[in-house]
Amino acid sequence: MNQSRRIFSVLATVTLGAALTLALGGCSRGKDDKRIVLGFSQIGAESEWRTANTQSIKSAAATMGIDLRFSDAQQKQENQIKALRSFIAQKVDVIAFSPVVETGWDTVLQEAHAAKIPVILTDRSVTSSPDLYVGFIGSDFVEEGRKAGRWALQHFKDGTDDVNIVEIQGTVGAGPAIDRKKGFEEIIATNPRFKIIRSQSGEFTRSKGKEVMEAFLKAETRKINLLFAHNDDMAIGAIQAIEEAGLKPGHDIAIVSIDGVKGAFEAMIAGKLNATIECNPLLGPQLMTSVTEVMAGKPIPKRIVVDEQVFPMETAKQNIQSRKY
Ligand code: AHR
Repeated sequence: MNQSRRIFSVLATVTLGAALTLALGGCSRGKDDKRIVLGFSQIGAESEWRTANTQSIKSAAATMGIDLRFSDAQQKQENQIKALRSFIAQKVDVIAFSPVVETGWDTVLQEAHAAKIPVILTDRSVTSSPDLYVGFIGSDFVEEGRKAGRWALQHFKDGTDDVNIVEIQGTVGAGPAIDRKKGFEEIIATNPRFKIIRSQSGEFTRSKGKEVMEAFLKAETRKINLLFAHNDDMAIGAIQAIEEAGLKPGHDIAIVSIDGVKGAFEAMIAGKLNATIECNPLLGPQLMTSVTEVMAGKPIPKRIVVDEQVFPMETAKQNIQSRKY
């Protein structure tokens, strides 16, 4: 082999090796490494909540000595499906994921089932058969919507006028968007004064929340009494839009949102957000416990629901210090 052919051959081998390592998630594992391997597909980093959730999963895996293969899908279902297939190819011990939307998972879940890899859902669920996953750990999103609805009924209880509500929904097709809407509507349906006059998706992000609120304010000729945002980030974006329109958020337009992140507590202390309904992102320790139980051959509950509270603005100051996210 002449000199230039030899260099080409070495380069080709190195490049192929690097490509294979990347395809396998950059993992290299000594043969004496007995740790449980968990493949986790995260939705993305769309909100303060999601950042706290990722942090919780990574630190719980490190604490419990679990070899975590973490993949960020950047809000795309196709990326999550690719990640799940890559975990199957890597023969990980357990797969966990937070599905961006509820539908479209049957085929890949069947593939995991055929490969005998147990799957645990965290945060959000799917419409596939429950036989295709071993458990689901997360909040009761319908109940969160109900809590927001109950807060709204209570807040406007003394008036007799109609309460015009605008709603900024989460990602279209996502469990929390579908369920929070359902729970909220169930409660406000008990009082005919409460009407949702506009509703649109803000994709769970601050920038979209602002954009949608700007559009509502521009298009709406009726007075808007209440904003119900499916998460705090969208409410915080909407607060900016309301201020830029020369109105006082939390006063001219009451606002209730969901998550209970630090940013929401700051907005409540500033008098700009009226209430936040907690949605707990700290699912890492429970997930790692379930993973170790599954690996020990123990059954885990099909549904693990997280306990959550309501925080009105009056309690924000006393609670902000103890918030963990
Ligand atoms: O699935 C949980 C939701 O997703 C949170 O409410 C939201 O902030 C996140 O992006």
